Amino acid sequence: MNICVIGTGYVGLVAGTCLADFGMNVICVDRDESKIESLKAGRVPIYEIGLSELVRRNMDLGRLHFSTDLAGAVKRSLVIFVGVGTPEDDDGSANLTQVREASQAIAAAMDDYKVIVIKSTVPVGTSREIEKLVRDTCRDNVDFDIVSNPEFLREGAAVNDFLRPDRVVIGANSERALAIVKDIYRPLYLLETPVVVTSNESAEMIKYASNTMLALKVSFVNEIANICEQVGADVYDVAVGVGMDKRIGPKFLHPGPGFGGSCFPKDIRSLVSTAEQNGHDFKIGKAVLAVNECQKEIVLEKSRKLLDGLSDKVVCLLGLSFKPGTDDIREAPAMYVARRLLEEGAAVQAYDPAAMDEARKELPDIRYCDSYELAAAGADLVIIATEWNEFRDIDFERLKPKLRQPKIFDTRNIYSPAQIRKLGYTYLCTGRP
Ligand SMILES: NC(=O)c1ccc[n+]([C@@H]2O[C@H](COP(=O)([O-])OP(=O)(O)OC[C@H]3O[C@@H](n4cnc5c(N)ncnc54)[C@H](O)[C@@H]3O)[C@@H](O)[C@H]2O)c1
Repeated sequence: MNICVIGTGYVGLVAGTCLADFGMNVICVDRDESKIESLKAGRVPIYEIGLSELVRRNMDLGRLHFSTDLAGAVKRSLVIFVGVGTPEDDDGSANLTQVREASQAIAAAMDDYKVIVIKSTVPVGTSREIEKLVRDTCRDNVDFDIVSNPEFLREGAAVNDFLRPDRVVIGANSERALAIVKDIYRPLYLLETPVVVTSNESAEMIKYASNTMLALKVSFVNEIANICEQVGADVYDVAVGVGMDKRIGPKFLHPGPGFGGSCFPKDIRSLVSTAEQNGHDFKIGKAVLAVNECQKEIVLEKSRKLLDGLSDKVVCLLGLSFKPGTDDIREAPAMYVARRLLEEGAAVQAYDPAAMDEARKELPDIRYCDSYELAAAGADLVIIATEWNEFRDIDFERLKPKLRQPKIFDTRNIYSPAQIRKLGYTYLCTGRP
């Protein structure tokens, strides 16, 4: 089957590459010429484990192509996946400009029956709007269907998540289109991946509800952690005990400096906005966001207190991406903390295994270092902001003489407080005595 994927960001590139790996002929299209040039040369512009190898393998097998020619790619394909960005507008709603522009360009190029699959995260009702837009733009005699197929991959584990998803959600109102999209995902039937078939509206809602639920768990455990600190309980033990209840489950019960990334914050704000437009006050969504804002501030509050003010202090920040395994810094708590530290007069020395190039564009005033040891040299405080594997085995004994003050704030609770304190450090963490 010939497939076209519009947008070669985290979602489009991973989806296109994995679909090629399923054995399909895939053309990935982007309007960003430099991205396409780099991909054509076999260079993957994002950091995602296993992706480069998969891209090169499928290019070599002649199943994966890259192009800026959207019209040509649409003409050659039966199915067109739309994986363009849906960033946040000033009022919190999802900005659908990229989706609308891509859909209009698809419509203008369509010369035969096409299935347009919306993979971007879009508010409920968008597929209906796009159907009208495409109908108004395409030639009279051309038939098409719109399918909603939200994506649940996690950055840092994107390839594995696409190839082994918990479920595939397909929202469609046409049997023909449903059969075609199900056929695309047939390789996953071998893994007994459940397929949820629903209306377009429900599929769109499933994505927002899932992200809100996950973020809610994070904000919940962060609040519990904050209470634990006040009452002398250990959030680690609490989360273990709570997570053993099968109705709750152990995942996403890890406290830290708050959630970030390109999805949770914007998707919850978008659902709050959708609810508002429909006369509903989405109180839980708002609370999840409010707790998250406070959580980032708590990192600063604790650091301020620990250092007796931040002005003229040297702070080492370990980790800048919003989570390990990615170079994505969008809404990363670490970036928020770095910005506020600089604003309050601290000097920030940072190290991240993948995200420093991206971070440099946003915060040029940080001193970027090539290793965690260099970032820690002369620091009054080391903040572990992102739990990259290489921060899980730091030799604190060797590090101590290089620091100006032996102070660690392990926001992600990677280390055992007793062990680090035994080495003579002042050690702060999240929600543990
Ligand atoms: N990043 C994630 O982890 C993730 C996970 C699930 C869902 N999503 C959703 O998937 C969508 C894409 O996310 P992303 O992180 O991949 O976005 P991104 O911003 O990284 O990539 C979007 C790409 O689309 C391209 N593009 C925009 N308009 C175009 C057009 N008209 N023609 C051709 N190319 C065009 C851009 O140049 C860009 O390369 C969003 O709706 C997002 O919410 C993201």
